[in-house]
Amino acid sequence: MGIIRFGISLDKELLAPFDRLCKEKKYANRSEAIRDLIRDGLVREEWVGVKGEVTGVITIVYDHHKRELVDTLMSVQHDHQGMIIASQHIHLNHDNCLEVIIVKGASGRTRELFSRLRSAKGVKHGEFVMTTTGKGLK
Ligand code: NI
Repeated sequence: MGIIRFGISLDKELLAPFDRLCKEKKYANRSEAIRDLIRDGLVREEWVGVKGEVTGVITIVYDHHKRELVDTLMSVQHDHQGMIIASQHIHLNHDNCLEVIIVKGASGRTRELFSRLRSAKGVKHGEFVMTTTGKGLK
């Protein structure tokens, strides 16, 4: 197994929290941490080629004071209502809301739903954990 070295350019603002993460997670060095992040990203990308039905959980955190954003999030969900099994809204604090949306549907359509929610201006954080529908599991 060959090792290839390459340089990475990074903003200072990204490096400091990254170094903290390395320390917290007890990585021996930055290279170890970057290897893990790359592997993680590649596993996530595997889903891109997945066809057929998937189940997943979408979480988004946003500021509910942005009225336009709330309207956007609502109408995006109504556009995809056939694939939303359940959703829950939690008022995290004065400004922020957490929404958990459980979806089931064609992999491409569920990813499209997530992208539209995540990219809505004012959404501070978004995650999409895809899992199996269980049909193929023994
Ligand atoms: Ni709320």
